[in-house]
Amino acid sequence: MHTILIVSDKADEVEALKSELVNKHSIVVKDRGQTALDYLKRVEKLPSIMILDLDLTSMKGIELLGWIKDFGKTKELPVMVISEKNNPSFELQAYVLGAVDFQTRPFVTATLIRKIEIHLKMIEKNDSLIQANTMLAGNSSYLQNAVTMSMQNVMNMQQFIVGIMTSLITRKDGFTGIHSMKVGRLMQILMQEMLNQKILYLEPEDQNIIILGSQLFDMGKIGVPDEVLSKVGKYSNEEFTIMKNHTLYAAEAIQNFSYLLPNNNFVMYTYHMCRSHHERWDGKGYPDQLSGENIPILARMVGLCDVYDALVSERPYKKPLSHGHACDIIQEGRGTQFDPTLVDVFMRVHTSFQSAFSN
Ligand SMILES: [Fe+2]
Repeated sequence: MHTILIVSDKADEVEALKSELVNKHSIVVKDRGQTALDYLKRVEKLPSIMILDLDLTSMKGIELLGWIKDFGKTKELPVMVISEKNNPSFELQAYVLGAVDFQTRPFVTATLIRKIEIHLKMIEKNDSLIQANTMLAGNSSYLQNAVTMSMQNVMNMQQFIVGIMTSLITRKDGFTGIHSMKVGRLMQILMQEMLNQKILYLEPEDQNIIILGSQLFDMGKIGVPDEVLSKVGKYSNEEFTIMKNHTLYAAEAIQNFSYLLPNNNFVMYTYHMCRSHHERWDGKGYPDQLSGENIPILARMVGLCDVYDALVSERPYKKPLSHGHACDIIQEGRGTQFDPTLVDVFMRVHTSFQSAFSN
């Protein structure tokens, strides 16, 4: 049901219209321009449509139309006008002022009723469209916010896990903890150069999780007994076997819980870096004796960063090597310990490695 405002002082016309419309709609009649204005100013919910007699005796209907279209509250109110002035320029003036229809007198009531119903149908369709658009905009914004929050939550969760793991590694073995964080920074440098050289192709979100996951590459050392991990001096064969297991401890831990995040890149990348960072290009590494490109690329990368940082770092059992000496050793391992392509990339950015290590 719509509310229809009829502003006219032609009582017969008004009665004829009312009798046709009153069964379907709520009819408000005002016979003076001023009372119509007062009603429109006062009413909370505007009528759906206004039928305005332009030939009012109390006020020029055309002025009332102009006021309605100038006033913010009623600007969008559809106004059908009626006038006995069968004058094209007057009709045009009414349309210019904002009338949606112009009915000349005399008219057949049924025709005017039909026109009113057509306008009401258009108004209903327009309202539905506005409602649908509002809902769509609301849903779209809600979904966008939900996705952004969800992505942020995932990133926070990943950083949280890496944070507590590196913290625990540092408590277990301070050298390994600091070393893990530095390897993360070196990985960033190496990865960026590989992306620049188009040797590696990664989505931006994957780049972040690789840097994050690379800090966990040695987390399996948590499972290595202190007497082995902190031993100063050469390992016995048995001790070395225990030490080598750190790759498997981490891999096993990740694998045991990977069912919770199937097909998750963070899980997959971290698994490869943890398990395979001690593999060698020539197949003489551990734990799986993988060789060449069978070694996951991220593990090859983190393996090189691991070696560089270990060489230039001081340990209780060794003095730090100079940056130049470390570069020489890495170059000597080109094609045996290390992927030749990675060594070439490293040599292009070795000064950045030096700066990152110093800082
Ligand atoms: Fe390791």
